[in-house]
Amino acid sequence: MKNWEQDVKKVLFHQEEIAIRIKELAGAINEYYGDKELVLVGILKGSAIFFADLARELSCPVMFDFMCVSSYGSSAVSSGMVDIKKDLTTDIAGKNVLLIEDILDTGNTLHELLPILSERKPASLKLCCFLNKPDRRQKPIQADFTGFYIPDEFVVGYGLDYNENYRNLPYVGILKRNVYEDCE
Ligand code: PRP
Repeated sequence: MKNWEQDVKKVLFHQEEIAIRIKELAGAINEYYGDKELVLVGILKGSAIFFADLARELSCPVMFDFMCVSSYGSSAVSSGMVDIKKDLTTDIAGKNVLLIEDILDTGNTLHELLPILSERKPASLKLCCFLNKPDRRQKPIQADFTGFYIPDEFVVGYGLDYNENYRNLPYVGILKRNVYEDCE
């Protein structure tokens, strides 16, 4: 059986430091929203683990919804196009919406997605991303809440994948270069 951990060059954030940072992040979100009702919108699949951990630290009244969009397909290179594979089931008009992303990278996905959601007239639309790679940005997208800023490395774990693998690693690790270069 394959040991997925052997493909990780270095652990960037251990499980324990992720838990600490998520509590801090939730504290900032709790302070910002107070007792306002919030619709948490998880962008699948990468945000699933972050969403679940963050949501349990929030104290405001929260509703869950999810979208599944894809900008990368199975490639490591962003295509700059967003494909909505699953839409919301909630009418977000007049609601406070907090988008939950695993990673803000080029910004291409959100550059396409944010205007689509804004057209639905939410009371507010904010972005919370677990990881933020500012060096890779191609579009002027900024997160309102960020877990960690990271360098331009290919990271996996804690929801993030390469070719759909590694999502269940409990930490964030840098993937060995040969793993994705051998597949191109
Ligand atoms: C990832 C991630 C973001 C997007 C960020 O999704 O979850 O949605 O890429 O990249 P960008 O800022 O360069 O647009 P992906 O399409 O890989 O799907 P996944 O969440 O199912 O892994």
